[in-house]
Amino acid sequence: MEKINVAERPQIDTAAAWQAYWEKTAKLSTPILWNTPSEIASERDLPRFQHLMNPELPLIDFACGHGNQAYFLAQHFPRVMGVDVSASAIELAQAQYGAPNIEYRVLDALKPEQAAALHAEIGDSNIYMRTGFHHICPEKRDTFAQSLHTLLGKQGILYLFELGDGGDEYVGSMVDRYEVQLVVQHGLRPGAITQQEVARYFADYEVLDSGKDTLQPVVRFENGEAAQIPAFYAVLRRK
Ligand SMILES: C[S@@+](CC[C@H](N)C(=O)[O-])C[C@H]1O[C@@H](n2cnc3c(N)ncnc32)[C@H](O)[C@@H]1O
Repeated sequence: MEKINVAERPQIDTAAAWQAYWEKTAKLSTPILWNTPSEIASERDLPRFQHLMNPELPLIDFACGHGNQAYFLAQHFPRVMGVDVSASAIELAQAQYGAPNIEYRVLDALKPEQAAALHAEIGDSNIYMRTGFHHICPEKRDTFAQSLHTLLGKQGILYLFELGDGGDEYVGSMVDRYEVQLVVQHGLRPGAITQQEVARYFADYEVLDSGKDTLQPVVRFENGEAAQIPAFYAVLRRK
């Protein structure tokens, strides 16, 4: 097994790395580290933002992965769109978590012209983003945030749930686990985001709600306890 220090980020094409990860996952049906049941993920998130969002706007599950959270959200919003950089993730989502009111599309947040084209098509959207941001390397986070600003427009509300302070170290402590190896062997690395950084990337936004939480990946320790990665959530609206 490769010994990896998750604090070191290799210079890689992250879009290609995510595609390689998802392609292998789809072909081999390997476990997905963040395949948290919606009961302890989007279902717990929902009361934090549902009453604040205009349901007439589409709800985008941004960096939706294989779509299990989008599927839950589509039971509570009339129109959901799942977007992700990886075509294989989108194919998995379409196959496993399709519903008449969900549309899945490939979109790379590091290419803001793609967000601009989508915004021109569907107008302002609400956004749900669960752990889509922390793994983006710090130099590219402004570009990533730009795509979110474009899609939110003036009316959209953003709910984000991210690995918080110490989250990357926590994942580092589990790096030998099979589910984590499946990710890091592609050069992908966890990161962390502080609430202060969120305030910087979303300087024109007011924080309607925020708080601490934990993310439960599929990893269990020898004593049977589930891993609990430090995380936080925030609900943001343009000022
Ligand atoms: C940790 S997974 C979370 C997936 C999903 N939100 C969930 O909670 O199940 C991160 C996701 O971000 C996607 N991603 C990475 N870079 C991206 C980018 N530049 N644009 C859009 N999605 C991206 C990956 O393909 C992956 O599906």
